[in-house]
Amino acid sequence: MSLLLCITGMDVEPWLARLRHLAPDRDIRAWPDIGNPAEVTFAAVWKQPPGMLAGLPNLKGIISLGAGVDHVFADPSLPDVPVARVIDADLTTRMSEWVVMHALIHLRQQRLYDELQRRGEWRDMRPAPAAAELRVGVMGLGVLGQDAARKLQVMGFTVAGWSRTEKQIEGLETFSGDALDAFLARTDLLVVLMPLTPDTRGILNRDLFHKLARDGVFGAPILMNAGRGGLQVEADILAALDQGVLRAATLDVFETEPLPVASPLWSHPRVTITPHNSAISDEDAVGRFVLRQVERAERGLPFETPVDRLRRY
Ligand code: NDP
Ligand code: OXD
Repeated sequence: MSLLLCITGMDVEPWLARLRHLAPDRDIRAWPDIGNPAEVTFAAVWKQPPGMLAGLPNLKGIISLGAGVDHVFADPSLPDVPVARVIDADLTTRMSEWVVMHALIHLRQQRLYDELQRRGEWRDMRPAPAAAELRVGVMGLGVLGQDAARKLQVMGFTVAGWSRTEKQIEGLETFSGDALDAFLARTDLLVVLMPLTPDTRGILNRDLFHKLARDGVFGAPILMNAGRGGLQVEADILAALDQGVLRAATLDVFETEPLPVASPLWSHPRVTITPHNSAISDEDAVGRFVLRQVERAERGLPFETPVDRLRRY
């Protein structure tokens, strides 16, 4: 009965140390040193190599070390066992900080003031709209989208959200499914907090950018994506920026990560980049979450945050 930690693309050591500290009596292993594969009953994963989990004959459950699970489902031979994903207050708070901070940077035109400062120029830029004049649209009204929407409202933004299924959320204008075009037509600043699934891949494309509002305080709309890079078509973002279809883009996630050095996004004057860290998974909080899921499953209880294998989120 051992818990296997399988992580690629980030350092496994802090995770292993934290889990072993939290559960000193548990047999916790780190891929690729898995020992006897038949002894592994649970796997906590971040971008596991395809086929690795299929080699564990007694696997009973998989726990994603992030809120997203596209990296788990990218494995075509994924065993048919329950999958859990992280829902954690610390992660949610960090994401909303990122969203509110970058929404305010756009509202207050901070990137322009940064440039003026570099030039030693004292100049008051107009227009200087109030937050209520900027219509923010949150795409994805799940755990992260709802928290971000609420905190944007606290800052005074005019907020609406769009999700797959219909939602009633007190004080929030909501759109769902086919009402996407209506949602986009009232949106000056699009905040994307959606999972990457076969339905959402490439959704942030030229067609969608053309449907965003063009009668807002800044004229052209702004894109902010912290969902997944696979949601966006980067060539379309660049073209939309250069054609004035988009005013600016703030991106935390990319088609290829790390973002290749040669990507024109790096040096585009109206692109802001963060390295997929808008909401990092804290090792202590997530470690406790992982161990709780394993303990629940060992007692015959379902995971707290099961993922729907059909929806893939
Ligand atoms: P949830 O599963 O709680 O919410 C997902 C939301 O997206 C739901 O509102 C869902 O609609 C909506 N959605 C899914 N598919 C569609 C679709 N086809 N059309 C319209 N709406 C859709 O996820 P979280 O809020 O916890 O996280 C969202 C994503 O954020 C994660 O999947 C991950 O990719 C990303 N993320 C990024 C991080 C980063 O550091 N950049 C950190 C953490 C997460 P409905 O409510 O109707 O089901
Ligand atoms: C996540 C992430 O899914 O960090 O949690 O991207």
